[in-house]
Amino acid sequence: MAHRIAVIAGDGIGTEVMPEGIRVLEAAAKRFNIDLAFTTFEFGSCDYYLEHGKMLPDDWFDQLKGFDALFYGAVGWPDKVPDHISLWGSLLQFRRQFDQYINLRPCRLMPGIKSPLAGRKPGDIDFYVVRENTEGEYSSVGGKMYEGTEREIVIQETVMSRTGVDRVLKYAFDLAQTRPRKKLTSATKSNGISITMPYWDERVAEMAKQYPEIAVDKFHIDILTANFVLHPDWFDVVVGSNLFGDILSDLGPACTGTIGVAPSANINPEGKFPSLFEPVHGSAPDIAGQGIANPIGQIWSGAMMLEHLGYKEAGDAMVEAIEAVLSEGDSQVLTRDVGGQGTTESLGNAIAERIRG
Ligand code: NAD
Ligand code: IPM
Ligand code: MN
Repeated sequence: MAHRIAVIAGDGIGTEVMPEGIRVLEAAAKRFNIDLAFTTFEFGSCDYYLEHGKMLPDDWFDQLKGFDALFYGAVGWPDKVPDHISLWGSLLQFRRQFDQYINLRPCRLMPGIKSPLAGRKPGDIDFYVVRENTEGEYSSVGGKMYEGTEREIVIQETVMSRTGVDRVLKYAFDLAQTRPRKKLTSATKSNGISITMPYWDERVAEMAKQYPEIAVDKFHIDILTANFVLHPDWFDVVVGSNLFGDILSDLGPACTGTIGVAPSANINPEGKFPSLFEPVHGSAPDIAGQGIANPIGQIWSGAMMLEHLGYKEAGDAMVEAIEAVLSEGDSQVLTRDVGGQGTTESLGNAIAERIRG
């Protein structure tokens, strides 16, 4: 039976990297005999908003809930629609309504890419950020008072539920369990954020009791960001709240040379709802329309999607093809962010070609 994939390219470079993601997925599907059926949706983009006054149709949930996975590009075009409207009206709704409470973001220095951190080579940076993806600092609890007056107040609460914290911690501990180093780092800020963050720490300590073989440490987010740069080799699985995970998952990939290669999986582990696979980066208005965006973040997200659907071998083959093309270092093929003069298409084509063998 075909696996039904909903495709939403979104805005800016989302529409440029998506065809490459699909190209490589189709090559992998052919080689590994996987039946993928893609259905493209126009909603979830700022152009759709300009036409309809909303980012998604009212029945988006029913339209998408039966798919096996969502393959997403990037959304946001602040000159057309304010970011909080476009993002809260699309991506953040998917994450919340489909209960994709894990945002899994691998961060790996790939062969052929130069890290901006002196002397770092592949193998030195290889960790996962596990980001809480449905609550925390991204809450809709709050409001405005006395608007337009000198007394104006804005409030936005951080929400941590025991279920919400425990389930992301459990996922992260389980992931650490599968890794050779068996190490988990928790991102906290319990010195300054005096209610929610000590609670997060308490739940980590409680969960750690069930995983005696995992080495657990924690850092306040400020020094943790410094340590990402100074000692990226210390990290194996890093778990954080929604906002901390967001920040760490741009910083980590930047340490690996470019955020253009970083993938992510927004997962509903129970499989009750479809999971969503998208690059970490956004719509990059500064380079959109030039055909120079790196498609690897999109392609690698596609590999995570295949693995999620049960095709680990095919997902691994996609990552190996990415590594092989990066290692070759052909500047006519590689995009500018990784030192080449090639295009989105030349890089996508080369990776697809590798898979075809
Ligand atoms: P961004 O990730 O779009 O871009 C940051 C920088 O990285 C830019 O200089 C850009 O050119 C570069 N970059 C990003 N992806 C690249 C790629 N594949 N290849 C080469 N270079 C790449 O972040 P931003 O500028 O903060 O946000 C732009 C828009 O995207 C905003 O509307 C923002 O809200 C949105 N956004 C969406 C997502 C998402 O859909 N998941 C994620 C982040 C930002
Ligand atoms: C990401 C993005 C989103 C987030 C934005 C665009 C709402 O930065 O996927 O990392 O903050 O989660
Ligand atoms: Mn982000």
